Parts: sequence; C-alpha cells; structure tokens
Amino acid sequence: MTIKRIAVLTSGGDAPGMNAAIRAVVRSATSNGIEVVGVRRGFQGLHEGDMSLLGPRDVANTIQRGGTILLTARSRTWRSPEGRALGAEHLRKWHVDGLVVIGGDGSFHGAHYLMEEHGIPVIGLPGTIDNDLYGTDHTIGYFTAVETALDAVDKLRDTGASHERIFVIEVMGRHAGHIALDVAIAGGAEEVFIPEDEKPVADIVHVIQESLRKGKASSIVIVAEGYPGGAMGVAKAIEDGTGLETRVSILGHIQRGGTPVSSDRILASRLGEAAVQAFMDGISGVMVGRTNGEISYTPLQDTWEKRKDVNRDLYRCAKLLSV
Ligand code: F6P
Repeated sequence: MTIKRIAVLTSGGDAPGMNAAIRAVVRSATSNGIEVVGVRRGFQGLHEGDMSLLGPRDVANTIQRGGTILLTARSRTWRSPEGRALGAEHLRKWHVDGLVVIGGDGSFHGAHYLMEEHGIPVIGLPGTIDNDLYGTDHTIGYFTAVETALDAVDKLRDTGASHERIFVIEVMGRHAGHIALDVAIAGGAEEVFIPEDEKPVADIVHVIQESLRKGKASSIVIVAEGYPGGAMGVAKAIEDGTGLETRVSILGHIQRGGTPVSSDRILASRLGEAAVQAFMDGISGVMVGRTNGEISYTPLQDTWEKRKDVNRDLYRCAKLLSV
C-alpha cells in the first residue's frame, strides 16, 4: 500500500527531544511526498479528534526546544474499547494510513490495541527520560535528563562540601535506575540505590561510617525515585543509624524540561526519519529504536513485556570508585 498520510502524537510524560522527533517525522514524510497530521494531547486528542495538518514550516525552530509542541497527556482513553474505537474513527476520517506514537510503554499499549483491534498501522518511538524501554539502548530525553540531574548534583556537592554535609538526592525513574546510575558514576556519588537492586536501605549506615573513617567530610547519595522509600527513606536510615544530619533534595520534574542535548536531538532525528521509512517499507506494529548504533525494530508488546536491565558493569564501577 502506498502511504499518503500519517499522523503523529506525543503521549505520557514529556521528554526533551520529542520536538526533534516530531520535526523529523514531519520533514522526512514531506520529503517523501507524505502528508502529516499532528494530534494534540496524545490519546486524549485522538479521542476528541483534535488534529490538524503539519507542514515543514510548522516544525521550524523547534529542534532546540524542550517539551512537546503537540502537547501531551496521561490519558486513559486508550484503556477502553470505546475510547480506542473513537480514536480509530477519527484517524479514518482523516484518511490516515499510519500513526507514529512518541512516548513510553503506556502509550505503546494504546498504539498496540489500535493496531490489533482496528487495523491501524502504528510505529512507536521511544520518548521517555526513564530509558526503561526494551528494544533500544537509549530513549529520547534520557541524555538530557541525565545532564540536568548531574548539573544539580554538582551544585549540591559544592554546598555539601562547604558545610560537610550528607546530601541524599532523588532522581526520576519510576521503575528504573538508569538515570540514577549514570548520575551516580558521573557525579562521584558515595552510594546509589536503584529499584533493580533492592539492597537493604540499612546498608547506607556502613557506607557513611566508612566514608567518615576514610576522611570524607561530605557525601553524596543518589536514590532513584522507584527505590522503595525513595530519598526520604534513605535519609531516615542514615540519621537513625549514624545520628548525623542529612539534607534531601528531590530533583523532580526539572529533569523533564530544558533544551535537549545533542545526543537526544540526533537520536530523535534519526528515529523520526526511520519511523517514516518503516511505514514506506511496510513495517508496523514495532518500536523503532537504536541498538548498538543501528536502527532496530522491536514488536511493541516486547517493549513492555521484556525487561531492559541497567548496566550492571556501571553499577559495579560506581561502587569501586567510591572508595
Ligand atoms: O516520564 C517518566 C517520569 O518522569 C517518571 O520518571 C516519573 O515517575 C513520572 O514520569 C512522573 O509523572 P508525572 O508527570 O505524571 O508526574
């Protein structure tokens, strides 16, 4: 089938680089004679039929902007058969031959059902700061989130060192420790807690006591949001176990904003182009990712059913370097 028109939406938590991905979809489609419809507010907008044609000029001056020009939502409309049917109806009304969904695993569920139940060809692009999707080495937004968190850690280290304090810093990652691990190693943290390795929180007491014994006056402890108890739990364990004061800093949504770093822009541009090419090659029902530097296709279902592990070697390395 010749593809004449595709739609694109962003869904779930926004991620820096989503605009670069939208731009790449629009411009590579246009270069191949394919029209693009932009859907606003993700599945919510699909449900409501909130969509309009997007041309190459509509995405001008967006590659460097954080957030998403299409807006996003954590919509639950895709969860109901009626919601999905309405979305499919709008896509048919707009004569859309394929839908690109930029988001995380929740968004991919919606995409998967649209294809299964209504025969709408879909392609997923990994857009989440958490980097928790199986089938791609990195997700769009991840690199920027790590830089943002690291910048905060460096600043907290300055004040922590001056006051000889223990800082417990929570980074995002609902179920995943990728951001935490990168930030811990690049920020020279004394310890890191991630959901993938539920070591007892009490372990921190020994780590802090050892740090003091070795002459470290201040310490940085990184905690992934998804680690049970979060940063508050780790700080409490330190205070209860050592009698020392701590300061907690929860970085939160600041990690989702800001100008995307070059690695996110490049990844988004490459994947956006590859998504359009995939449709032209008759490929759908997959997430287009990048694995070992090459474009890869992963069945949507695998992206949430299979688990992407953290880099255990980094974990080991972070520990080794914290002596
Ligand atoms: O998009 C991923 C993420 O940033 C997680 O790290 C975090 O747990 C969650 O989204 C926060 O979601 P919300 O924007 O709904 O508060």
